[in-house]
Amino acid sequence: MNKIHFALIGVLVAVNFVFVTGNPLRDAENSFDDELMDDMRFTDEQRNFMFGSENKNSKTGTTWRHWIKNERGEVVIPYNIDPSQGFEKHHIDWMLRQFTAISNSTCVRFVERTDEEDFVDIINGSGCWSWLGRMGGRQELSMKINGCFFSGTAMHEMIHAIGFHHMQINYDRDDYITINWENVNEDDKSAFNKVDPRYYSNFDTPYDYLSVMHYLKTAYSNNGKDVIVPNDKTFLDIIGRVGMLSAGDALRINRMYECSIVDEIPEETTTVTQDTSTVSEETTTVSE
Ligand SMILES: *[C@@H]1O[C@H](CO)[C@@H](O)[C@H](O)[C@H]1NC(C)=O
Ligand SMILES: *[C@@H]1O[C@H](CO)[C@@H](O)[C@H](O)[C@H]1NC(C)=O
Repeated sequence: MNKIHFALIGVLVAVNFVFVTGNPLRDAENSFDDELMDDMRFTDEQRNFMFGSENKNSKTGTTWRHWIKNERGEVVIPYNIDPSQGFEKHHIDWMLRQFTAISNSTCVRFVERTDEEDFVDIINGSGCWSWLGRMGGRQELSMKINGCFFSGTAMHEMIHAIGFHHMQINYDRDDYITINWENVNEDDKSAFNKVDPRYYSNFDTPYDYLSVMHYLKTAYSNNGKDVIVPNDKTFLDIIGRVGMLSAGDALRINRMYECSIVDEIPEETTTVTQDTSTVSEETTTVSE
């Protein structure tokens, strides 16, 4: 079922939501907590599909859109980084390193766009965000210069474009984390809606505290207190801070795109030692 729905290609009407992402009170120092909130953009159709909907009138018109796999078994995602956006060489190198980390462990390849019709246009927009999956044509991925160049943000946003949402809204999350609803901003409660397992899959991979798609413990907190609490408390200060591709992230991408390169669940999915040390390293190397 899950594989089938990812394979359906429907006509996706790209409704451009006006998302409230610019908050003048946010500053770069708070970016770790703030800039990644609301970082996902999807169409009404995608939203109804992913979360289920009473009014869902047809599944056929609605779908994720895969990027295309070529004869060599590679999924090619063309990107454009427009110099007029203000990115400097170190920004570009930093983003490309994160994309390379994805391609090193999956069959997804990133190529500089020449004349491909579908591509990801990386912009210095109003925060860090991406559309979900391949939208068809030019699609933006925003990497705000003052605010997104930390941790694993570039790869996080690109994995949205590859087709994945956040780990903490996975349908089985209640077996692994507890949401402290009393600490969640009233307006943001829907950010914790779980996906409908009939339409959104993690491809039989285990819940992944180390995923670069996981949010921090204080995500959407209205009082600074913890919102996302892992059942395994070892991970309390690790979720959302790993900043690198987890073995599970790679495996999910490989399963979604049926890459031939990885089929086993790598062991490091359940260990934290390696990843914790990287958090501080990444933070110091890349902070602006
Ligand atoms: C990036 O965008 C912000 C907000 O629009 C703008 O203020 C800033 O000057 C831009 N940065 C560069 C280097 O162009
Ligand atoms: C990708 O793989 C190459 C070749 O093994 C390696 O040199 C490079 O460090 C890797 N890059 C990242 C970002 O993982």
